[in-house]
Amino acid sequence: MHYQQHSREAPMRRVCALNDLEPGEGLRIDDTSPPIAVFLTEEGTVHAIDDTCTHQDASLAAGWVEDCRVECPLHASAFSLLTGEADQPPARRPVRVHRAEVHDGEVWVEVSTAAPNLPPGVTLP
Ligand code: FES
Repeated sequence: MHYQQHSREAPMRRVCALNDLEPGEGLRIDDTSPPIAVFLTEEGTVHAIDDTCTHQDASLAAGWVEDCRVECPLHASAFSLLTGEADQPPARRPVRVHRAEVHDGEVWVEVSTAAPNLPPGVTLP
């Protein structure tokens, strides 16, 4: 008899097409709570992190991407797209990183089940 192994990982969801992404820019995905930001680096890698900065309510998808980091559009903190850590204040807490993969031109993300580090005044709906 064949027993099927059930994965314990959270399911992956399609968030956009690879063609929706511009190299060096982010795309905000609003149908997750909280929203996530998907990035295509100049090197061609795809990453997903929480879109909301942990310092204040700013969209990291609108930030500047360089060296696998995104700099918040409001202040000087840059977040690693690999670890979510902020490189310098004013942001101190990391954003969550979500596993992202590309299959057949579609971007799939496994949303982290960790609690998000939302900034003061921002709550989940
Ligand atoms: S809002 Fe992002 S560093 Fe201040």
